[in-house]
Amino acid sequence: MESVEKELKEQIAAVKADMQNLRNIEPAKRGSEGARLNKLKTELEDKLQTFYRDREERELNAKLERDPLIDITIPDINAKHGGLHPISIIMNEVEDVFSQMGFIIEDGPEIATEFECFDSLNCPKSHPARDMQDTFWLSDGRVLRTQTSAHQNYMLKKYGPEFRAICPGRTYRNENVDATHDTTFFQVEGMMVGSDVSIANLIYFMREALTAVFKKDIKVRLRPGYFPFVEPGFELDASCPFCENGCPICKGNKWIEFCGCGMIHPKVLEMGGVDPKKYTGFAFGFGLTRLAMMRYGISDIRLFNSGNLEFLQGGVR
Ligand code: PHE
Repeated sequence: MESVEKELKEQIAAVKADMQNLRNIEPAKRGSEGARLNKLKTELEDKLQTFYRDREERELNAKLERDPLIDITIPDINAKHGGLHPISIIMNEVEDVFSQMGFIIEDGPEIATEFECFDSLNCPKSHPARDMQDTFWLSDGRVLRTQTSAHQNYMLKKYGPEFRAICPGRTYRNENVDATHDTTFFQVEGMMVGSDVSIANLIYFMREALTAVFKKDIKVRLRPGYFPFVEPGFELDASCPFCENGCPICKGNKWIEFCGCGMIHPKVLEMGGVDPKKYTGFAFGFGLTRLAMMRYGISDIRLFNSGNLEFLQGGVR
């Protein structure tokens, strides 16, 4: 115990003893003496409290001096704030748009079986289309999915024969990396299955979704395109969201190639347990990474996975 504390405590004890002795003094003096002792006791007790408070502060300051980082509650005015990755921002937006149109948001695994990624998509081992999607194989025969279409079979089995769902997520391909190709990128798969789903529905939903994402009236057009899991299959173009008369992004075409899509192949429906004689559906798959590149004017796909802080803060494009 420090001497100040000891002294004050002794003085308080002495005053308390005097108070006990009040009854032994002359009755006429008891009142004034009692009041004096009471006042003294309060003063001494206040002093002791002040001493304790000061001591606590002294100890805290000493501690902070020894280890200035110890108080994690003091805000750092120079702190840089984190933020969402551009892919997360655009993914959240796309999810909002589609869920407002009644689509379920699915989250499929990045590791798929060979069946999910290829065979269930009408792309057996001998199929030449497999060459376009060379990927990373695990030693147990599974693959890092080359396309979010790998989740189609699962969605058909889980929700068929009537549903709308999208499945956004990371995809992988064994690419030669350059400014427009990376081994790791993001796609969004979409499916709608029902008793009379048609190409008209596909056009309608794509137009509405793109209009909502770009906050501008977007037209869509279909050209024939080949994917083993859709019949008929299309390449969907969107009117350029950035210009009226041609710009560097649409390379002067006023249209940009947006995604692959089509009517789900009867064999794919069948493998998903949905009767193709009774039900039809459309599917589409677009590059979320490409969408982010267009939206934010990012010229090099490699920036997304680079961990470059300046890029993440919107500085580098
Ligand atoms: N999975 C295809 C790709 O990665 C895109 C696609 C999805 C095409 C659905 C048609 C239907 O290129």
